[in-house]
Amino acid sequence: MTSLSRLSPPFAPGTVWLVGAGPGDPGLLTIHAMNALAAADVIVYDALVDPAVLSFAREGAVLEFAGKRGGKPSAVQRDICERLIELACDGKRVLRLKGGDPFIFGRGGEEALALSDAGVAFRIIPGVSSGLAALAIHGVPATMRRTNHAVILATGHAAPDAQIEWTSLARTGAPIVLYMAVSSLPSIVEGLLAGGLAGDTPAIAVHGATTGKESIVEGTLEVLPRLAEEGLIRSPAIVAIGAIAAFRSAIVNHLLEFGSEAAQ
Ligand SMILES: C[S@@+](CC[C@H](N)C(=O)[O-])C[C@H]1O[C@@H](n2cnc3c(N)ncnc32)[C@H](O)[C@@H]1O
Repeated sequence: MTSLSRLSPPFAPGTVWLVGAGPGDPGLLTIHAMNALAAADVIVYDALVDPAVLSFAREGAVLEFAGKRGGKPSAVQRDICERLIELACDGKRVLRLKGGDPFIFGRGGEEALALSDAGVAFRIIPGVSSGLAALAIHGVPATMRRTNHAVILATGHAAPDAQIEWTSLARTGAPIVLYMAVSSLPSIVEGLLAGGLAGDTPAIAVHGATTGKESIVEGTLEVLPRLAEEGLIRSPAIVAIGAIAAFRSAIVNHLLEFGSEAAQ
C-alpha cells in the first residue's frame, strides 16, 4: 500500500507552504495539507483554522496565531508577510495555514507576491473553500445543469477603496455565494433587489460549516437582513442566494448528516 506521506513533495527547510485548511472538519484537509502539518517547524495560522486541524501538527512545532479576531487588534497583513519571510530566512519549514482555500478571499495572493518579491521559495496547496463546502454538505449544488451556468463568489467586505456593484451582479441572474457578508446584508440585499432579483428568491445561510458550531437558516432574499438582525445568521457564515438554494428541500430527507466525530 502507498504511504500517504509519499504523495507530497519534501518540505524543504527555508521554504513556505501556503496551505488551505478547508472549512473546519479535518476530514476535508488535503493529503498535502496533512503532510505539511506533520513536517512543519512553524505553523502560522488564521482565526478560521479549526483547532481540530491544528491537532495534526507535529509534536514540537511552533504554532503562531496571525489572524483577525472580532474586537481584538488585527494582525496587519504586512507584518504577517514579513514574519513569513523572516522565518523562512531562518531556515524554518514554514506552514502558512489559512481557512478554506488560500486564494479565495484569503489574501493568499498578497502573501505569495510578498514571498516572491523577497526571493523565498514557496508552494501553494489549495483547500476546500467554505463557500462550496457549506453548500455541498447541505445539499445545495453550486451549479445545476438546467438551473445555472455560472455561479458568483462574492465578498461582502470590499477593500476600503473599492465598491461592490450589487445591482450589476444581480442582473447576471447567476446565484451569488457571499463570504464575509453578515454585517452588510441590509445594503447587499437592497442592491440585489434594485438590480432586479425578486424578494422571494431562495436563500440559505450556513454558519460555522463543518464545525461543531454549525447552524443553517433557510429563507428568501428579502428576509436575510431581519434574520441577521435577530441573530439567526451569525458570522462566520456563507450566504447563498438563487434558485440553487431551493434544491436542498427536494433531497434533504435522505441526505445523511455530514461530519466526523472530531467536528461534533
Ligand atoms: C477571510 S474569508 C476566508 C475564506 C476562505 N479563504 C475560504 O476559502 O473559505 C472569511 C469568510 O469565509 C467564510 N467562512 C470561512 N469558514 C467558514 C465556515 N466554516 N462556515 C461558514 N463560513 C465560513 C465566512 O464568510 C467568513 O467570514
